[in-house]
Amino acid sequence: MSRVVFTAVQKRFAGVGGRPATLAVRSLDLEIESGTLVTLLGPSGCGKTTILRMLAGFEEPTSGTITIDGQDVTRLPANARGTGMVFQSYALFPHMTVRQNVAYGLIAAGRSTREVARKVDEVLALMQLGALAERAPEQLSGGQQQRVALARAIAIEPRVLLFDEPLSNLDAQLRERMRDELRALQQRLGITSLYVTHDQTEAMAISDRVVLMRDGAVEQHDTPNAVYTQPRTAFAAEFMGKANLLPACVTAVTEAGVDLDIGGLSARLSPSGRRLVPGDVLDCVVRPEHFVLGGPKSREVTVLRAIYQGGHAIYAVEIAGRSCTVVDAGIHQRGIAEAGQRIAISLAGAPVWPLLPAGQQESRRDDSK
Ligand SMILES: Nc1ncnc2c1ncn2[C@@H]1O[C@H](COP(=O)(O)OP(=O)(O)O)[C@@H](O)[C@H]1O
Ligand SMILES: [Mg+2]
Repeated sequence: MSRVVFTAVQKRFAGVGGRPATLAVRSLDLEIESGTLVTLLGPSGCGKTTILRMLAGFEEPTSGTITIDGQDVTRLPANARGTGMVFQSYALFPHMTVRQNVAYGLIAAGRSTREVARKVDEVLALMQLGALAERAPEQLSGGQQQRVALARAIAIEPRVLLFDEPLSNLDAQLRERMRDELRALQQRLGITSLYVTHDQTEAMAISDRVVLMRDGAVEQHDTPNAVYTQPRTAFAAEFMGKANLLPACVTAVTEAGVDLDIGGLSARLSPSGRRLVPGDVLDCVVRPEHFVLGGPKSREVTVLRAIYQGGHAIYAVEIAGRSCTVVDAGIHQRGIAEAGQRIAISLAGAPVWPLLPAGQQESRRDDSK
C-alpha cells in the first residue's frame, strides 16, 4: 500500500527555436491515497501525461516535490521508484514472447530464475494469458497485447501503477470490457494507481477520485459523482457530460432550502453552502436527464427537435431564452414527442447546482501562475 503526494509541482518546458516556453503543469498539489485509483482527466495538452511522467521518473519537475510513502522520489531514477506503467501503444518488446515480456522487469530487478518463473506463471494465470505465453506480440489482438502490458507492469509488484490512456487504441466494446476488468484487478490487488484519460465516461466508471485538469492546473478534484453533479465551473460542467447552464433567480430562502425560478420552472437548489438572498441571480447546472417530464408543477415548452436514441429520446427546447437539452426516458410509456409538440416539464425534486460566479471561475488558476 502506497500513498503518493505531489507538492507544488511545476513543469516548464523550454521553448525550442524561438518558440515560447510551455508551462505544462502550473503548481500541482495532489494526494493519492493508498490503494485508490485517481484519474487525471482533461482535454489534450492540459498536462496529464507530463504529471504521470514526473511520477514515473521520465521527466524532472522544474520545482516542487513528489513523495511515495513519504520517500522523496523527485530526483530518483525511474527504475528505483517502484512504479509500473501501461501505455496507450502497449510498448511490448516485439522480439520477445509474452512470457519474456512479463519476465523482463523481474529479471532486470535481479530475481532468481526460479522466482521469475513462479511469478510469471502466477501473473499469466491471473491475467488469463497462460495459453498465449509462447506467442509473439504481433500474434495477439490489441486487447490481448494490452493485457500483456498490464501483466508486465504488475509482475514487479509496483508501489504505484501508472496508466496513460491505456484503452484508447481499442474499439468501443472491448474498451468497456477492459475498463471493468482493469478496475476489478486494481481493487483486488489494492494497487495505488494514477490513470490518465480524456474520456469522462471512462473516468467516472473506474475512479475513486477524478482530477479534472485545464491548462496545466487542477480545475476540480472530487469523487466521480461530485464532479458530475456539483461542478464548480462551466468548464467542469460541460466537460463531464451534457450540461444545461441556466440563469436562476432566488425566490425564497427558508430552513428547507433555497427556492429558485428558472425560466418559469420552480426548483430547489441542492445544498451548496452558498449564501443567497431572495432576488439573487445565479447560473445553475441542470443535467438533461434530471428534468421531470409530464409530472406535477409542470410548465409547457415546445419541442424544437426530437432525437430518438433507442432507450430514450433527446429533445431540444428553450428555457429562459437558452437552448436546452432534455432527456425523455419515458418514451416507452408515453411515446416520443415530435418537433412542434408541447410537452410538460418540471424541475420538482431535480438536482440543481450553482456554478461559481463567472469572475471566480478563473481565479484559482490565475493564482497558481
Ligand atoms: N517534451 C516536451 N517539450 C515541450 N513541450 C512539451 C513536451 N511535452 C509536453 N509538452 C507540452 O506540455 C503541455 C502538456 O502536454 P501533455 O502533458 O502531453 O498533455 P496531455 O497529456 O494532457 O495531452 C502541452 O502544451 C505540450 O505541448
Ligand atoms: Mg497525454
